[in-house]
Amino acid sequence: MSEGLVTVSYIGATILFILSLGGLSNPETARRGNIYGIVGMAIAILATIFGPKISGATSFATLLVAMAVGGSVGVFAAIKVKMTEMPELVALMHSLVGLAAVLVGYANYIDPTASFYGAEKTIHEVEIYVGVLIGAVTFSGSVIAFGKLSAKISGKPVLLPARHWLNLGLLVAAILLGRWFISVDSGMIPLLLMTVIALAFGVHMVMAIGGADMPVVVSMLNSYSGWAASATGFMLSNDLLIVTGALVGSSGAILSYIMCRAMNRHFLSVIAGGFGTEGGAPAAAGGVQPAGEVQPISAVETAELLREASNVIIVPGYGMAVAQAQHTVFEITKLLREKGVNVRFGIHPVAGRMPGHMNVLLAEAKVPYDIVLEMDEINEDFPETDVAMVIGANDIVNPGAQEDPSSPIAGMPVLEVWKAKTSIVMKRSMASGYAGVDNPLFYKDNNRMLFGDAKKMLEEVLKGLQS
Ligand code: TAP
Repeated sequence: MSEGLVTVSYIGATILFILSLGGLSNPETARRGNIYGIVGMAIAILATIFGPKISGATSFATLLVAMAVGGSVGVFAAIKVKMTEMPELVALMHSLVGLAAVLVGYANYIDPTASFYGAEKTIHEVEIYVGVLIGAVTFSGSVIAFGKLSAKISGKPVLLPARHWLNLGLLVAAILLGRWFISVDSGMIPLLLMTVIALAFGVHMVMAIGGADMPVVVSMLNSYSGWAASATGFMLSNDLLIVTGALVGSSGAILSYIMCRAMNRHFLSVIAGGFGTEGGAPAAAGGVQPAGEVQPISAVETAELLREASNVIIVPGYGMAVAQAQHTVFEITKLLREKGVNVRFGIHPVAGRMPGHMNVLLAEAKVPYDIVLEMDEINEDFPETDVAMVIGANDIVNPGAQEDPSSPIAGMPVLEVWKAKTSIVMKRSMASGYAGVDNPLFYKDNNRMLFGDAKKMLEEVLKGLQS
């Protein structure tokens, strides 16, 4: 395949990636968006394999072995990993992108065939230095994020004294080492020193972040991994990788901004690390003691309340994903709608464990998109709602975020379910949610607790409605 044909294929793939991102922004076009992405990636891979840079039997054999190994790991992970473990998998994937950028950077630097002189040499070295820097931060930050998301590392923020000064010191050191690296012929020592500093910065940045703020970290590392891929593209002079990396980097940055707004955090303090931990006490690991009396309700009584209601809002959360209760939720929704009840869904931007988690589950269960509303669209309707049914959600319906300035989630906008005539919270126990804080909603006079596994309880509610 000629260089010209490769360029045309890369442009085609770039356009497909942009169309893919456009499609993914709406549930109705998401499927099409995915197909554009798959076709774009297939074109990109084929153009790279058959392009002029790959030649000879050895190169093909190496590529095929690498693709077989990578592809098998990908297929295995996609089949085995549960939906609720997706954020951990994504964090792990980000770490690989970072590691690839570091390795490509070192390989480029020690490449004996590379011959750059003058300004070209400086540009090439800046590319390597920046690529390794972003790659190392992404790698170590993502490994720690993986540890925190999978509870292998405590979710509690580790706040070193004068941590912002420490970060500033690391940044200044990285800049000075960069000058050293570019001004000498053999810059392996400054490159290695900077790599250690960047790895330490990644660890420090994510360790300082409390459990409740992890969603923003995941999307921020997503953005970093895009920039790391882009830097790799510069090092390898691969236009498609530069553009694709920039697309991932900028869409990740936009997502981080949206998540920051959803959680009422400042974007700049996110980038600096250790954000959102000054305002309130760090979240208690392992939960807190319940503070008050709650009023339990049975599945049969819940069915009665739902049958008598005219307006119902369902608020799904992480527990619905764990219980895989979305299909039963849809059965109940269908039945109630047939009886003339106005049923809608209220989706919090950080419900579950990944952006769009609830939308994906509800779409899978075939819940119509037009009754699935964003928090901002539905929050003011709670006072006119007869029953607000909370299914395995906790932090996203915690009134403490509005009422208690010392709460770790203080200031985070929440779904105001307690303003409905009756709210019903479906969960297995009094355990706290991801942020590790108690929820005053449970003790309100108009709240009832339906204890049990969400799927099992909803099946009983469905039976109650059918009888
Ligand atoms: P959480 O606050 O984590 O609450 C989920 C609740 O579901 C738990 O209290 C748990 O109580 C219950 N539960 C678990 N398994 C269940 C089952 N089988 N049946 C019934 N209930 C079950 O979830 P949320 O309200 O969706 O809030 C999301 C939280 O995750 C936020 O703090 C957010 O910041 C964080 N987070 C979000 C993301 C993204 S991007 N969405 C990423 C990382 C972290 P029991 O144990 O008593 O059943």
